Amino acid sequence: MIDTPRLRLLPLDEADREPLARLFADPEVTRFLPQLAAANLDAARALASQRIERYAAQWRTQGLAPWALRLRQDGALVGWCGLRATPEFDAVEMVWLVARAHWGRGLAAEAARAALDYGFMRRGLPRLIALILPGNSASVRLAERLGMRYERHVPVNYLGGGAAQLFRLTRTDYLASLGGAR
Ligand SMILES: CC(C)(COP(=O)(O)OP(=O)(O)OC[C@H]1O[C@@H](n2cnc3c(N)ncnc32)[C@H](O)[C@@H]1OP(=O)(O)O)[C@@H](O)C(=O)NCCC(=O)NCCS
Repeated sequence: MIDTPRLRLLPLDEADREPLARLFADPEVTRFLPQLAAANLDAARALASQRIERYAAQWRTQGLAPWALRLRQDGALVGWCGLRATPEFDAVEMVWLVARAHWGRGLAAEAARAALDYGFMRRGLPRLIALILPGNSASVRLAERLGMRYERHVPVNYLGGGAAQLFRLTRTDYLASLGGAR
């Protein structure tokens, strides 16, 4: 569990199924996440169950998976953010998703900074990447704000068969960006 000023980050659990399903049923939220797009709430519930199980398994076997983002104020699930292994790129990928009602409040940046810190400082990872579909300007801006740099376009089947923009941040650059604060 990680606390940030407004959020509590902790593994997803069964109780998150319904709020997660509502996120997946919002076409604006899944616009650049075709693998999560659900045609209706029932399909979204099935997807949510799969993700909850998959991430629970990843926590057990890899010790890494996206966290649920809960508002510390009232415990409401407002999205997810965190790390997942992407063997095809020999790297750990950062992922993020926030409910539309909470966009533009800096919550993704707050959670992603905690995830970066966890990845680099607590897990000692050498680099983190983000895979962002063209047109997803909010995610590009977020990646840039985190200090990630565009590296190249890469084909990614799970993102609908198209090419994604690969952004990268190395631990060395992350430590340098802290400016000796640690
Ligand atoms: C990407 C996403 C997580 C950002 O969440 P958020 O909580 O609104 O982001 P923040 O408020 O922390 O903003 C982070 C930065 O992005 C910028 N930003 C946010 N939305 C933006 C938009 N629509 N267009 C351009 N920039 C945007 C913010 O201004 C901020 O930059 P700044 O500090 O220079 O002002 C959210 O838009 C989302 O969930 N999108 C759908 C899911 C998704 O596509 N996930 C990523 C797949 S790669």
